[in-house]
Parts: sequence; C-alpha cells; structure tokens
Amino acid sequence: MNKKHSMLFVRKPVATLLGEMEGGERLHRVLGPIALVALGVGATIGTGVFVLTGEVAHDYAGPSMILSFLLAGVGCGLAALCYSEMASMVPVAGSAYTYAYATLGEVIAWIIGWDLIIEYAIGSAAVAVGWANYLQVLIQGITGGGLDPRFVSSPWKYDLKQGRFVWEHINVGGEYITPWFNLPAALIVLGVTVVLVIGIRESARFNASMVILNLLIISTVILVGAAYVRPANWTPFLHREQGWKGVAEGAGRIFFAYIGFDSISTHAEEARNPKRDLAIGILGSLIICTTLYVAVSAVLTGMIPYATIDTKAPFASVFHQRNLPIVATMVTVGILAGTTSSLLVGLLSQPRILLAMARDGLLPLGFFGAIHPRFLTPWKSTILIGVLVALLSAFAPLDFLAELVSVGTLFAFVIVCASVLILRRTHPQMDRPFRVPALPVIAVLGVLVNGGLMFALGRDNWIRLIAWLTIGMMIYLCYGRFHSRLRFAQNQG
Ligand code: ALA
Repeated sequence: MNKKHSMLFVRKPVATLLGEMEGGERLHRVLGPIALVALGVGATIGTGVFVLTGEVAHDYAGPSMILSFLLAGVGCGLAALCYSEMASMVPVAGSAYTYAYATLGEVIAWIIGWDLIIEYAIGSAAVAVGWANYLQVLIQGITGGGLDPRFVSSPWKYDLKQGRFVWEHINVGGEYITPWFNLPAALIVLGVTVVLVIGIRESARFNASMVILNLLIISTVILVGAAYVRPANWTPFLHREQGWKGVAEGAGRIFFAYIGFDSISTHAEEARNPKRDLAIGILGSLIICTTLYVAVSAVLTGMIPYATIDTKAPFASVFHQRNLPIVATMVTVGILAGTTSSLLVGLLSQPRILLAMARDGLLPLGFFGAIHPRFLTPWKSTILIGVLVALLSAFAPLDFLAELVSVGTLFAFVIVCASVLILRRTHPQMDRPFRVPALPVIAVLGVLVNGGLMFALGRDNWIRLIAWLTIGMMIYLCYGRFHSRLRFAQNQG
C-alpha cells in the first residue's frame, strides 16, 4: 500500500486515546453504575416496544413475535458483550467510532461515526413520532376529540410492501385529508433539547424519573395484562401467512426496540469509573429490557387475536378492547414517559459522538467541540441536532425511519464485534477489565447474527445505508482527510 493510501487507514494508538482523556475541555464525571443502567434502560425502552410491536405482531409474526424478540435479543447480547470489552478497555467517549479508530483505521472510523448519526439522530426522530401517536391517544381519551389530525402526522407514509412513499390520507368525519406535519413530535424534540443543554446531571435525573415511571407502567401492563390473557390467542403460534419467515423478518423490524443499550458507551467521559461501570450498564440494561420485552409481547398477543392488534398505539388499544379504559390511560401516560427518556438518551448521545469526531479533527472543533462554560455540555451541536431531528420527526413517517435506523445500528454492531477480534490480536497485552468469553466464537456469531438481521431488513434499506455512507465519504474526502489531527501528527513524524 502506498503512503497516501495507507494514511486512510491510520489507526489511533489506544495509549493516545487514553492520554487524551486527561486534559483539555472535558465533560463532567458524575454517572455511577445505577445511573448508567438507568440511561441504558431509558434509551432502549420506547417506540420500538410500544408502537412497532403492533405492526410486527399484526403483519409478520403473530404470537411468535416472542421468538422475534428473542432472536433480536441474541444478536444484541453478542454485540453487548463485545461493546463491554471495548468500553472497559478504551473507556473514552465516541463509542463504536472510537473503537474503530483504534482498530480498523481512520476511514472506517469516520464511516462508523457517520453511520451512528442514523442510530442516534434519525432514531430519535422515529422515537418522537411514536411519542406523538400516544399523545394523540391520551388527548382523545381525555377530551374525546384529540388534536387536529392535520398536525399530528407526516404528510407521507412508507409502504413497506411496495417499498415507496405514498401520501398519507386520514379519515376525518368521512372526508380524507392529507396531514401537514407532526407538530407534537417536533415540540417534544425541542423540549428535550433544552434539558440536554442545561446539563448532564439534570438530564440523568430527569431520565431516572422517567425510567421509574416507565418500569412501573410496563410492570402494570404485564401484571394486569396477564390476568386477561386467553391462551387460545397464542394458537396458531406462527403468523398464518408468514410462518417462520415472519419470525426472522419480525426480528429485523423489532430490532429497533433494542437500540439504545449501546449508547452507554458514549457516556464514558461522564462515567465515574468507566472501566467497570460501562460493562455493568450495557449488559445490565440489555438483560432488563429483553426480559420485559418477552413478557410484554406474550401479554399483547395473548390478550387479543393478533389480527386485531392496532398498529399505531397497540398497548392503549389492547386495554380499550378489553374494556379497561383506566388502565389504558395509565399505560399511555407511562408510555409517554418511556418514549421521552428514549428520546433524551438518543439526543444526548449524538453530540458526544460528534464531539469525539471533532476532537480528532474530522469535524470542525470550534462548533462540535464547544463546551458550554457553565453547563459543561456540548451545547452548540446539541442545539443543531435538536433542530434537525425536530424537522425530520415533523415530516418523515415512522416505518421508514425505524428501518433505516435498524440497518445502520446493525452495521455498527457488526463492526464492533469485528473490532474486538482485531484488537485481541493487535493488542493482546492490554488491560481488559471485561473480557468477552469464548472468543472468537462470540464475536464471529455477533458478526453473523447481526449481519443476518441486516439481510432480513431487505434490499431497499441496504441501498439507503450505502447512499448515506457515500454522502459521509464525500464529506470525509472534502474535509476530514485534510484536517485529521492524527494524519497531521504522523506526517510531521
Ligand atoms: N429502542 C428505542 C425505542 O424503541 C430506540 O424507542
């Protein structure tokens, strides 16, 4: 490889990464293990389990959605183990982006950093749309009317079967109208952005209270719902038309519900004891979420026949269908809290990844690296992301966003699993407070299962992912390549 070419794959020495954590403008180290688990649970439980389950059960998997959740959970578990090793070993901000910089080189790191924008920023837009669905249900439950439907939905929807956008038509009093934009989704994004600018401690506290409410509500769904389960609804177990194929496709679609536990690795710089606590946060939150998801999907598909499950706000509707309006309202309030915390962590993580990229010179440091003197948060990029995500959530439909987010995140998981293997070879002697057991099996399985789930999401999502990454590559070639601090240092050396 000639010098110019090999510079694209220049790796950031792990010692340099660790050294960088010592000085400069740093974030506040205030997060302990419980706060980290709460952040993970807060990020993970949201629109996926509360909204997308409706469609997955109805269209793909029926009661076997339980298996879809388990299959997606296995892929996440394998990735979680690999994330934990990386996070304990390189406990610096930036998540998969930083790990890739240390192992696979600058250009791949940039691609992953760019890809993570899909996970966090676009993912947050999807969560906000789910939040707005439940807000409408809540207001309808209280007032009997609801918000003007023109302002609670994007003007388009995404037809998964045809693979294209079509105009949304909503029936209002017998007349079909096309909505304008999703105002509540945009407003919740802007509200959360304000909390995030004010401070990490405040954000973590806000998150913790939302998570407690959320867990209380999920427990209510499981306990009350279990009393109303009719086991006959679990037969047939597989979806009548989709069979086993529906289990795999359902896993690809429901994977969105798991996204977020990995975001803990973006908080390394704010963790009090990152070497130990990041692994606790990642694995702890994934175990909690998987257990709850399996229980919740058993209850949802057991309470009513899957063909009658509502696809917009399934948990509110299932309790209404079983004549439990008070439980339906309580559940809706809890779901609003759960999706708010998911949104909060997504919007919290994104600027921290951009911060890591800016510190490496791959993005303008003056903007993405600016830390607010009083709040000690990356305020400029938090506001920029907040505004862009608000616009996206106002105009883009949920299905489209969720699938793109899933394919992008699965790609990051594949890279992290591969990075663990590479780093074990290139840096066998490094201190690993957490070690993935049974390597290479776990990491190879992680690549295969998560790569397989990417295939389950279909060709169109691949095309979108490749298009997104191509745009990122052009930005790198025009900016990052010329401003990379590491390349500059190596050229000098
Ligand atoms: N897992 C998160 C959610 O379902 C992104 O909302």
